[in-house]
Amino acid sequence: MTIRSKWAVVPGFVVLTSIAAIVSAYTGARQQQATTPDTAAGSAVRPSARATNKAPDTVIVNRGEWGYWGGSTPQGRSPTQPIAFPHPRHVQTLGMNCLYCHFSANKAMDPGLPAVSTCMGCHTVVTAQRPATDGLPARTSEGIQKLTTYWQNKQPIPWVRVHKVPDYVQFPHMRHVNAGVTCQTCHGQVQQMTRVYQYAPLNMGWCINCHIGNVNPAWKARYDCSTCHY
Ligand code: HEC
Ligand code: HEC
Ligand code: HEC
Ligand code: HEC
Ligand code: HEC
Repeated sequence: MTIRSKWAVVPGFVVLTSIAAIVSAYTGARQQQATTPDTAAGSAVRPSARATNKAPDTVIVNRGEWGYWGGSTPQGRSPTQPIAFPHPRHVQTLGMNCLYCHFSANKAMDPGLPAVSTCMGCHTVVTAQRPATDGLPARTSEGIQKLTTYWQNKQPIPWVRVHKVPDYVQFPHMRHVNAGVTCQTCHGQVQQMTRVYQYAPLNMGWCINCHIGNVNPAWKARYDCSTCHY
């Protein structure tokens, strides 16, 4: 090997490793899908050691084992929840605003989940004994019954987290909500989902595609590496 071609190897190697890093970021989400069954979260109910920034009596389980798994949660992920909470009922039928329950989406990194007391503000009145509605006979609601039991036992509801970017990625909800990006742009039509699922891939290419202005020119944002990784 001549001296010259030896030196050409160095920048060549740098370029190759950078490409490998970026390609792996883009494919990370797809590999996740193959290796992570979305029912993994539905199994044991274990309070997480890392449930921060949450409403005080609300805990997301299963975050611990995702401390590092390389990428974001996979598209289509839809874990079974401890209570089958119907978004359509509350948002469409009752006309509730997303921020009523996800109270810090426009103020903090984390959008927040409702405290059990928020639910009980209504469900001490709307009890598990449901009258005949929607062509159904009078019945006992399993969901409201479970909710009431958590409340009486002063326990948080162990909701299973659906969306999660890895810890080395910063995602500030308030910056997006205040810039006018709707919840539905990133989460799909939650108000129609009987069970919430992950609508977007949440991989790096998805973030950057919007930051460079491809989704809406008005939504251009910084996209140097330190914007999201610091
Ligand atoms: C707009 C936000 C954003 C910007 C800007 C950004 N990244 Fe990322 N990056 C992400 C997200 C989100 C992930 C996790 C994606 C996944 O693997 O599912 C990620 C993952 C990564 C990973 C890990 C890949 C893996 O599979 O383990 C590397 C390495 C990386 N980014 C490097 C960079 C570099 C280098 C830059 C600057 C050129 C950059 N990122 C800019 C959002 C961003
Ligand atoms: C009455 C309270 C309430 C309202 C109103 C509400 N949500 Fe929720 N939301 C919840 C609860 C409780 C959960 C956790 C259980 C679940 O995932 O079904 C949740 C979960 C979610 C998740 C998944 C969170 C995760 O773990 O990744 C998203 C996304 C979401 N809601 C978006 C919305 C949007 C968008 C709206 C408005 C269209 C909305 N929500 C209105 C109570 C509410
Ligand atoms: C603003 C009042 C209000 C709040 C707050 C509220 N709910 Fe409800 N919820 C209702 C009403 C009213 C119904 C019945 C809707 C109907 O009959 O069409 C209902 C229905 C339900 C049902 C379905 C009952 C069934 O079997 O038909 C469940 C489960 C439920 N709520 C759980 C929750 C949980 C969990 C929370 C807190 C995250 C919550 N609700 C917060 C008013 C509320
Ligand atoms: C620009 C895309 C985007 C927008 C807009 C957006 N979200 Fe999110 N949402 C995400 C991402 C990405 C995550 C995962 C964040 C993480 O892991 O830190 C997430 C996570 C969540 C979670 C779960 C957080 C937790 O701690 O359990 C809820 C709830 C949620 N979003 C609700 C909302 C609501 C309500 C709105 C509208 C007011 C909204 N989001 C707007 C992308 C978005
Ligand atoms: C649909 C469009 C869209 C998507 C998808 C999106 N963003 Fe953003 N992002 C924005 C907009 C708009 C802003 C606000 C820019 C501003 O305030 O000037 C922003 C701002 C940010 C900021 C603050 C930037 C700063 O200047 O300090 C960070 C960090 C960020 N986004 C990370 C992410 C990450 C990580 C993802 C993917 C998981 C993501 N974004 C996905 C549109 C998007």
